[in-house]
Amino acid sequence: MQWGIKNRLSRIFNPETGRTVMLAVDHGYFLGPTRKLENPRDTITPLLPYADALMLTRGILRTCVDPEANIPVVLRVSGGTSIIGPSLADEGLTTSFEEAIRLNVSAVTLSIFVGTDYERETLLSLSELVNEGEKYGIPVLAVTAVGKELKKRDARFLSLCCRIAAELGAHYVKTYYCDEFEKVVEGCPVPVVIAGGPQLDTFKDTLQLAHDAISKGASGVDMGRNIWQADHPVAAIRAVRGIVQENMPVDEAFELFESLSNE
Ligand code: R5P
Repeated sequence: MQWGIKNRLSRIFNPETGRTVMLAVDHGYFLGPTRKLENPRDTITPLLPYADALMLTRGILRTCVDPEANIPVVLRVSGGTSIIGPSLADEGLTTSFEEAIRLNVSAVTLSIFVGTDYERETLLSLSELVNEGEKYGIPVLAVTAVGKELKKRDARFLSLCCRIAAELGAHYVKTYYCDEFEKVVEGCPVPVVIAGGPQLDTFKDTLQLAHDAISKGASGVDMGRNIWQADHPVAAIRAVRGIVQENMPVDEAFELFESLSNE
C-alpha cells in the first residue's frame, strides 16, 4: 500500500488497536435536518474529543467544524438524491478530488447501491474515486447502502456488496451488522466497519451491536443516530469507544454510560 494512503488510514484507524470509532454526521445530505442533527455544530462539537474520525459532507464541514479542530475527516462525495425523491440509489459524485485535497481529508466516501437499477453507475463511481485516490494517496471508503429497504441487511447480500467494493479497490468498507456477520468479514479482504442504523430500542442494544460486530471481526464503527440521538450523546460515544478501543464487555460499557449520564 502506498505511503500516503497508509498514513491517512493510520489517522482513522488507531495503529495500536487497528480499530476506529467514526462519528457519522452526513445524514442531512439526503434526509435534511434529521432529529438531533438540526444544528450540526451543536451536535458535533461535544463529541469531537471522543471520535477517531468524522464522516460528513463538505457543506457541514465548512460551516460547522472549525478548521483548527484536530479531527480526521472522511468526506462524503456522493449524493444528488433525497428521501422524498424517486430513488435514493440514483446517486452521483458531488465533490471533486481537488476539493477533497483542499479540505485536507483523510479519506473520501460514497455509497454503492448493489442490486438496484443504479448499481453500475454507483460501482463505476467507486472505481473512479479509487483511481483518483490512488493518484493522490487518499483512501476510499465504500458504503454498502440499502436505501429504504432495511430488510435487505442479511449476510448473503452484504457479503456480495462488501466483496464487490473491495474488488473494485475500496480501501475499507462500511456495512450493516447482520446474523453470521463473520461471513461478511471473511469474504472481504479490506477492513469492515459497521453503521448503527436507526436508533435501537435501548442504548444497551447499541452497545451489544458494537460488541457483536467487533467480536466477529469488524474493525470499528461508523455510527450516527445511536450516538447523537441518545439522551446523553457524550456518554454514548464514550461507552461505544470503550467497547471498540478498550475491549470492554457490554455490561462494563453500560455502567460507564450510566455513570457518565448521571454526571
Ligand atoms: C448513510 O448512508 C449515512 O452515510 C450514515 O452515515 C450511516 O448510515 C451511519 O449512520 P447511522 O449509524 O445513523 O446509520
